[in-house]
Amino acid sequence: MSRGRFITLEGGEGGGKTTQAGRLCDTLTARGIASITTREPGGAPGAEEIRQLLVAGETGRWDPLAEALLHFAARREHVVRTIQPALDAGTWVICDRFTDSTMAYQGYAQGLGRPAVEALEKAVLGDLRPDLTLVLDLPVETGLQRERNKGRYARMGVAFHQQVRDAFLDIARRAPKRCVVIDATHSIVAVSGAILAAVDRRLL
Ligand code: TMP
Repeated sequence: MSRGRFITLEGGEGGGKTTQAGRLCDTLTARGIASITTREPGGAPGAEEIRQLLVAGETGRWDPLAEALLHFAARREHVVRTIQPALDAGTWVICDRFTDSTMAYQGYAQGLGRPAVEALEKAVLGDLRPDLTLVLDLPVETGLQRERNKGRYARMGVAFHQQVRDAFLDIARRAPKRCVVIDATHSIVAVSGAILAAVDRRLL
């Protein structure tokens, strides 16, 4: 059986990643492709426990390197327990956030820098990379207004989230073979259409 494909959805707050992950999974399943959705931080029991340390509490509660390490600890559990077994079984995995989020939030916006995040990526994930990354892009103000859940990151302020948006666009520019930027200001149906077109073009 061939390995499943690994698709990640990335971008700032309020871009509709969770909704779009579910819609893509439904479409692929209807086409006869076994698919699951999962999310970060989370996607495995221990990783969901670590999530609570990250998404609640004071905005400044973690040192940026400690914060990146927590995200990678959660990611390691997620990969070992959920993502890799699914891919090995031939199942496609659609993941709501992955390493690009650590790069954008901790690496760029929290100032840790690209080399530190790249070193952690290599140590924790080896050669595992997404086959396709869809970056859902939209203006920061629109995203923060849409986001109903005002968790720790949503409270970090507009300037921080502008850095996050710019970071994702830079990440996509540096990895054009892996990443496709999707305009997330359009309707849910239109965004789903753009995502499906990218999946068909790049993976099918
Ligand atoms: P979400 O599930 O609503 O996307 O919330 C997760 C939050 O965690 C989101 O604001 C982005 C943040 N985050 C990071 O800062 N670094 C990471 O590596 C990941 C996966 C998420």
